[in-house]
Amino acid sequence: MKKLRVGIIGMGIGEKHLQAFEKNRYCEIAMLCDFDASKLAEIKAKYPQYSACLDASEVISDPRINVLSIASYDNFHFAQTIAALEAGKHVYAEKPFCLYRAEADRIGKLLNAKRHLKFSSNLVLRTVPRFKELRKKIRAGELGPLFHLEGDYNYGRVEKLTNGWRGQIDFYSPVYGGGVHIVDLLHWLSGEKITEVQAIGNNISTKGTSFRYNDMVTALVKFENGMTGKISANFACVYPHFHKINIYGTKGTFEQDMIHANYYFSRDKDDKPVADLNDYPGHSTRGELIAGFIDAIVDDAQPLVTPQEVFDAMSVCFAIEDALKSGEKVKVSYMEVYK
Ligand SMILES: NC(=O)c1ccc[n+]([C@@H]2O[C@H](COP(=O)([O-])OP(=O)(O)OC[C@H]3O[C@@H](n4cnc5c(N)ncnc54)[C@H](O)[C@@H]3O)[C@@H](O)[C@H]2O)c1
Repeated sequence: MKKLRVGIIGMGIGEKHLQAFEKNRYCEIAMLCDFDASKLAEIKAKYPQYSACLDASEVISDPRINVLSIASYDNFHFAQTIAALEAGKHVYAEKPFCLYRAEADRIGKLLNAKRHLKFSSNLVLRTVPRFKELRKKIRAGELGPLFHLEGDYNYGRVEKLTNGWRGQIDFYSPVYGGGVHIVDLLHWLSGEKITEVQAIGNNISTKGTSFRYNDMVTALVKFENGMTGKISANFACVYPHFHKINIYGTKGTFEQDMIHANYYFSRDKDDKPVADLNDYPGHSTRGELIAGFIDAIVDDAQPLVTPQEVFDAMSVCFAIEDALKSGEKVKVSYMEVYK
């Protein structure tokens, strides 16, 4: 079989994409791209075997490239995704895959029209071994029916807001940048979708810096089956990068903080919880989503995070941003990708 030729735009996290594509037997790297000349020089020195360019349109318009990995700044994802799909390429886009509902709409329409093209996004928390085990336990009924789910995306990298592109682009949302991971995780763990949200936020931590947006957002959410939840995107916290998760079921509770991850099956404090012994986040599955994306192309199957799931997570994030602006409770308006 002829190998799939891969182009990658943006060589920050994009370098991790590169390492996943390099390992894949169906892929060969066709072109790396970064519009920062010094970054590109660094990449060229590290990977002299690959072609590299400064201008993303060179990668997108190259007819020999079949797969495009988009790891540029958030504000470029929409235009690059549209151009790549129009050029007949499969697209693996970093999150958020766009910044506005109208953009998501346009991408959805294009995916619907070009069904042979695969699309997914790097919603990586699904590949964490600890969460895979948690999902198995939930599915096996060990926690009983769930009734409340909480996730805090503790970013812990405030300097990336105050010193980098996140503070310079026209709009940056910690909900789109981090909350989206928690939304997808809670959807995937529970198998239920969020239908209603309320949200509040602030920028107390970064006030007076060049970062002009909320660095802290918290949303109360309600799921279709009545479950409640809380999702926070806490970008300025004095805390290492971490995902705090609490899942409450009628028969058991899962709780993970920086130090512990435990299952509680008793209300008696003398009963020891059952510790989860998986290393966290556990890198054994690094690159799994990209491997699954390539398998989806090769087998004409669904990627591990399907286009619909990518859009579902983003639809909740749009509703949270709307709720922040209006101060009102907002119903999530889901978009159907394939009509
Ligand atoms: N899924 C995840 O867990 C995860 C983790 C980190 C970053 N991200 C996402 O990846 C994207 C990049 O973030 P990062 O942390 O790697 O940033 P970064 O600043 O570390 O790296 C981005 C690189 O892309 C280059 N670039 C940006 N726009 C470009 C364009 N239009 N054309 C060519 N090169 C371009 C920049 O010069 C830079 O070298 C963001 O959308 C971010 O949300 C996702």
